[in-house]
Amino acid sequence: MVKVDLQGCDSFVSKEQFNEYLKKARAAQVVLQEESGAGNDFLGWQHLPSSTGKAEIEACLGVVDRWIGKEVDLVVVIGIGGSYLGAKAAIEALSHSFAREMGGHGPQVVFAGENLSEDYTAELLDLVSQRNTACVVISKSGTTTEPAVAFRLVKDHLEKTYGKKDACERIVAITDKARGALKSLSNQEGYQTFVIEDNIGGRFSVLTPVGLVPIALAGFDIEAMVRGAKDAEKALSERSDDNPAVRYAAMRNLLYDAGKKIEIYASFNPKLQYLGEWLKQLFGESEGKDGKGIFPASAVFTTDLHSMGQYIQQGERILMETVITVDNASREVTIPADPQDLDGLNYLAAKHVEHCNRMAQLGTKMAHIDGGVPNMDIHIERLDEYNLGSLFYFFEVVCGISAYVLGVNPFNQPGVEAYKKNMFKLLEKPGY
Ligand code: PA5
Repeated sequence: MVKVDLQGCDSFVSKEQFNEYLKKARAAQVVLQEESGAGNDFLGWQHLPSSTGKAEIEACLGVVDRWIGKEVDLVVVIGIGGSYLGAKAAIEALSHSFAREMGGHGPQVVFAGENLSEDYTAELLDLVSQRNTACVVISKSGTTTEPAVAFRLVKDHLEKTYGKKDACERIVAITDKARGALKSLSNQEGYQTFVIEDNIGGRFSVLTPVGLVPIALAGFDIEAMVRGAKDAEKALSERSDDNPAVRYAAMRNLLYDAGKKIEIYASFNPKLQYLGEWLKQLFGESEGKDGKGIFPASAVFTTDLHSMGQYIQQGERILMETVITVDNASREVTIPADPQDLDGLNYLAAKHVEHCNRMAQLGTKMAHIDGGVPNMDIHIERLDEYNLGSLFYFFEVVCGISAYVLGVNPFNQPGVEAYKKNMFKLLEKPGY
């Protein structure tokens, strides 16, 4: 289970202040659970893990089997925002860092439709033209421009390469049950479709087929991921001062009100880089509205200590830090002794690389606290499907509670429309 350690905030807040915010977070938890707050028609994610059974898992795995049967070696997953970042975060976290360079096995999953870069698109088309390709297109609204453009191009390639009938068997659409161009297109072309329920917003959809189908296609155990989320659902439903989601939500709001306007989501594991991206979307889109909200940033240490470290240590004192720690590394590497010790590293001989990483983490925590950056630690036992499932669910609950403490609707994103309107006008879209 996810554990939260807030001791790194002790020198910044008093017990009384924390207890006051704990009360607010407890009240917000009730609002969330009783579905009485703003955006309460978007709470389908709350009981999603416990309502995901064998049939739902098998439906996702059916896509894997079907495409393995066709010897598909490349799956293009098309989507943006919540229809992209969860799967990307999970696949990056669980994959071998050099999977591609090492040949890998099973289909390679690549992402598209999350940008409008012509160079990226052209290079994607170079790749699909060399490989045995299938495509998962994900858009809840079914109208988002970026994935729609990518899908039009990939669909065209598949139809030209394999013929219309086979292309149809190489496309899976994940979309809303009734609305949107993607739904009507899928009905007309006969694609296999998965439905995203109306009451689950994009950034809360990683544990639906939006995340599970791509994660399964990348070869990971989605049943274990859902089991982790299910256990978290049970544990985090507790109405108690010890509930880690409630405590963390209380502390980050208290720090925000005390002037810490930016939260850095950091980890000491590069596999979690995209978890940081997922968190930025989850919290940024849920909280940043009505002129308020913690600004979410992300960093991977020790890498970014050599770039962002200077600012974090001594720049404007508006930062707080949430560090996601994987307690146990999956592999072991010890540093060898060297008879000559020309690099002066023999003091580390026989030590694990992860031991050095831990000491770097501890040293960083002490330095940042001394420098005025409160530290919150989120722990998972190991980086696997089960723990990642519980971590996703944990942050979703934190986000719902936190946003209610802040006093905003966590489940809408009206601000995202502003750029779209201008872009449509500039592109001369009919009606704009
Ligand atoms: O969280 C959200 O709702 C958004 O980030 C959406 O996921 C994103 O805009 C993509 O939308 P859609 O799935 O409708 O294409």
